[in-house]
Amino acid sequence: MNPFARLVPAVMAPAMITIASAGPRFYAPDPTNLPAYRLPDPLKAADGSAVTAADGWMKSRRAEVLELFRSQVFGRVPPAAAAPGAVRAEVVELNAAVLDGTATLKRVRFTAAHGGKSLVFTASLLLPNHAPKPVPAFLLICNRGATNIDPTRAVRSDFWPAEEILGRGYATAAYQVGEIDPDTKDGYADGVRALFDGGAQAPDAWATLSAWAWGASRILDFLETDPGIAKGKVAVIGHSRGGKTALWAAAQDERFGLACVNNSGCGGANILRRRFEGRESVARINKNFPHWFNANFKKYDNREDDLPVDHHMLIALVAPRWVHVASAEGDLWADPRGEFLGCVHAAPVYELLGGTGLGSAEMPAIGAPLRGDGMAYHIREGKHNLTLEDWRAYLDTADKAFGRAPGTR
Ligand code: GCU
Repeated sequence: MNPFARLVPAVMAPAMITIASAGPRFYAPDPTNLPAYRLPDPLKAADGSAVTAADGWMKSRRAEVLELFRSQVFGRVPPAAAAPGAVRAEVVELNAAVLDGTATLKRVRFTAAHGGKSLVFTASLLLPNHAPKPVPAFLLICNRGATNIDPTRAVRSDFWPAEEILGRGYATAAYQVGEIDPDTKDGYADGVRALFDGGAQAPDAWATLSAWAWGASRILDFLETDPGIAKGKVAVIGHSRGGKTALWAAAQDERFGLACVNNSGCGGANILRRRFEGRESVARINKNFPHWFNANFKKYDNREDDLPVDHHMLIALVAPRWVHVASAEGDLWADPRGEFLGCVHAAPVYELLGGTGLGSAEMPAIGAPLRGDGMAYHIREGKHNLTLEDWRAYLDTADKAFGRAPGTR
């Protein structure tokens, strides 16, 4: 018997979620043909009691859920890596007139030191010169090549459309994940985990996505020291493996005011228990990317129902702060409908905390973002990618989340 069955009360079964016939195109496979599954209830505590007040979530149940994600999925950061002073930040380049004088560029070098060794990673920050300070900001977790986040702007990629973001009155920072922990099966010795671990990895030790999320928090430490950036108004954004990381970073670090979770799929926003051919399963992701999740997560290969959590609970950890999940129509591998349902099933936590979540259990039409109170979702045409259309939807959500008039510049 599933040892966590006691955590599983009446959560809406997928078949109970109706899709209006005039609504969006239907995302195969038909959910009514999926094997039945039952989700753990975020609002049922480990001792079986129901969480019925905001305090019960924020002060107690939230910590239980976070601990389950640390121990069973992503792994925990060792205390030495989280200690104040473990990382030193220095501005190594400052140019107050880039992009025809419209922006200020700061390049920041971070040095993580431990046991006589160190590791360096970098971030670029662009601030809009014309906007009244402090401004909100987007921190991009870049899982693609460095040219996608070119601070000189000689190369301009829609993956980081800095000019568009600055034009909307936001600052933006970006870092390349490989500088923190290599995105390879055998890169452990060259990354930040080896620097701080001091020995063999425990089954619940941090894996690569946790190391990247740790990096986002260290960059946020620096952003919080910049008087040009509004505290509590930093959005963390990532695509795909970067989207999984953005969600995990915001789940842990309550200083992020918004998480933008693009095409994050398995291990991100989607519901792991939705099993069907054509989407990524826990067994597949663990086989192809064994370094992303901790050793304990391997126990759940082909045994998703045994997990004490599912990823609606990861989204719920961001509540009452904002989260915006997005899918692409042609990205079945990431299970668009499963990403949407991750939001739907996180909504009870948002509701308990006074929001509405998405405010709807029906998928919006393609290209028509749905924004409730605390949560947003969109699905666009096209393939697995982070596009300008996605960014514009995230900027509109940030305007709402951070109380700015729509399209403020
Ligand atoms: C693979 C992987 C996904 C991941 C994606 C990406 O497709 O299976 O889980 O999201 O790479 O990061 O681009």
